[in-house]
Order: sequence, then structure tokens, then C-alpha cells
Amino acid sequence: MAVGSANLQWSSLGFGVHPTSGYSCCSWKDGTWSEVSLMKEPYLQLHVNSVALHYGQTVWEGMKAFHCKDGSVRVFNDAVNHQRLSRGAKRMLIPELSLEKFREAVDLCVRSNVPFLPPYGTGGALYLRPILLGSGPALGLAPAKEYLFLVICSPVMNYFASAGPEILEQGVAGKVVLEYDRSAARGMGSIKCSGNYGADLFPSAEHKAEGFMVGLYLDPTEQRYIEEFNVTNFAAITKDGKYVTPESPSILASVTNKCLQQLAKDIGLQVEQRRVDFLQEVSTFKEVAAVGTAAVVLPVRSLTMRDKTFMFEKHQVMAKLKTQLEAIQVGCKLKR
Ligand code: COI
Repeated sequence: MAVGSANLQWSSLGFGVHPTSGYSCCSWKDGTWSEVSLMKEPYLQLHVNSVALHYGQTVWEGMKAFHCKDGSVRVFNDAVNHQRLSRGAKRMLIPELSLEKFREAVDLCVRSNVPFLPPYGTGGALYLRPILLGSGPALGLAPAKEYLFLVICSPVMNYFASAGPEILEQGVAGKVVLEYDRSAARGMGSIKCSGNYGADLFPSAEHKAEGFMVGLYLDPTEQRYIEEFNVTNFAAITKDGKYVTPESPSILASVTNKCLQQLAKDIGLQVEQRRVDFLQEVSTFKEVAAVGTAAVVLPVRSLTMRDKTFMFEKHQVMAKLKTQLEAIQVGCKLKR
């Protein structure tokens, strides 16, 4: 099986569900995880009373496998995703899944789907969606007695690819969301669980209808400090050249953000991860980005709060960090 032999129209892939060779799966019952196997059909037989379906006992990850310059296939940063999944699983009373088992399932999924992996140079990746869910039934609220771990994949380009290359370069218009909170102050905001994404469906449909491609949430207590965008972290390069990103107990620890912070340090930038007061600090931002696995580094050219719009510059420093990150992901290291 050769990489990319499915011969898809790589450049027009966008970010969506695509038929593949299947997903990997193992199950948990009575304290043990089963062997991992490949499921060829994209369906799941689930008890109608499964706890995942009724009470949202589900945590998942987003990660990518790349076809690299030297011909190999590499999964980027999987141990960090496993760590985050494990933290979420603990919070949701889902049994522990070892890194070994996680890797076994990821490996089977990637190996079985090598023809769907966008070849080196296309700018695409095989997006991987590991998901842990309470499959066992319960009628009252209680943790499930049976679980599934699945690794699903789809060949993808950038999450915002459908907006067109110009928008990806020039940036999108964003809105500060004031009518809704993304998560509760001491809630599940730092966990990659389905509920956090479901909560954003209605708000994002509203602001998209108003012409804002992204929404920026503020903290749920004071609506003062920056939290994150709908499906990505927030990061900015300030006018005095710092990389600034919010610290908050209710936002997701983005793997991409962590990598960008390291790359920023590597080129000598000061990195500050702290509470970021939107109105106090917005005028100090030169470049603003929405950063995450699927979106990578999306330029945000403006943020509108009520009747006021704040403008930012075209990415220069962020573009450099993005180029570095993408080079590392495909096994190339660029000169700084
Ligand atoms: C990711 O960036 O991997 C995410 O999990 C966001 C999702 C909405 C695609």
C-alpha cells in the first residue's frame, strides 16, 4: 500500500468526513481492554441507552499523521494527546487507557489507511480522531460499565480551507461572544469532551450568519479575560514582539499552542501565558491567531466587540512560526 494511492483530489479535500479503509477499535469490560481490531464499515453498534449517548460520557482527541519528506509516515506528538485524553478520561470516570494501547490503535488505523494519507508536498494530513466513550447502558446518571476506544481518520487539508487561500492568508473576521459562555468557570472547559463543542453550535451559527467566521469567548465569571475561539486557542504577537496566550482553568490545553510557544522561544521571543484582559490589551496586539490541530495557525484580521472593531496586521511572526511547525511535522527543519 503506497502513501496516497487512493489518488484523491488532494487540493480540494477541505476538512470533512471521507470514506477510508476503516477505524480501529477496542473495548473495555470487567477491568480489561480487549485486543485492537479494524472495523471496515463506518458504523458502530451501540446500546440505545449507552451513557455516551445520553449523558455525554465521551472524551476525544484531534491529531495528525504526516507523510514526511524522507518517505516515512509520522504521527505528530501522540504522547501529548494521550496525556490530555487521559486527563479528560479521569474527569469523566472513564477507565485508564495505556499509552501502549493508545499507540497500538493509532498505529493500526494509520497503517490501514496509508492510501488515504495525503502525499508529502500536498499540505494535507491524515486527521486522527481517537475517541473514548461509555458504550454500556444506564438509565439513571452513572458511569458506564462498558467502554469503547476508537481511532477514526480522514484525509484533510486545513480546517478553514473552504474559505479559500486568500482568507487563510489575509485572515478572518472574528466576533467577541458576549451572549454565551463556552464553559462554566469550574466546569469542563479544559476537557476535550463533546459537550464543549455542542455548546458552541448555536453561538457560532449566529455569528457566522452575521459574517464572523470565528467567535472569541471571554471568561464566564467577569467576561473580561480572553478564553478561546470556538474550536481553537487564542494567541497574539504584541507590538513589542511577545507571544501572548491566555492561562485559564476553563480552556483547552492546545498541543499546537504549546508547540508554537516553544518555536517562539526558539527564535528569541518572550512567551507569556497568563490572564489576558481583552479591553486592556487588545490595542497592544499586532498579530492575532486562532491556533489548533485542525486550523493550525489561522490569521484573525479583526475582532468586533459590540459596536467596536479592533484591527490586526497580516501575519509575519505567526507565519514564520507556522512555517516552522509545518516543516517539523513533515520531518524537515528549516533554518531560523
Ligand atoms: C482539532 O483542532 O483537532 C479539534 O479538535 C477541533 C475540531 C472542531 C476539529
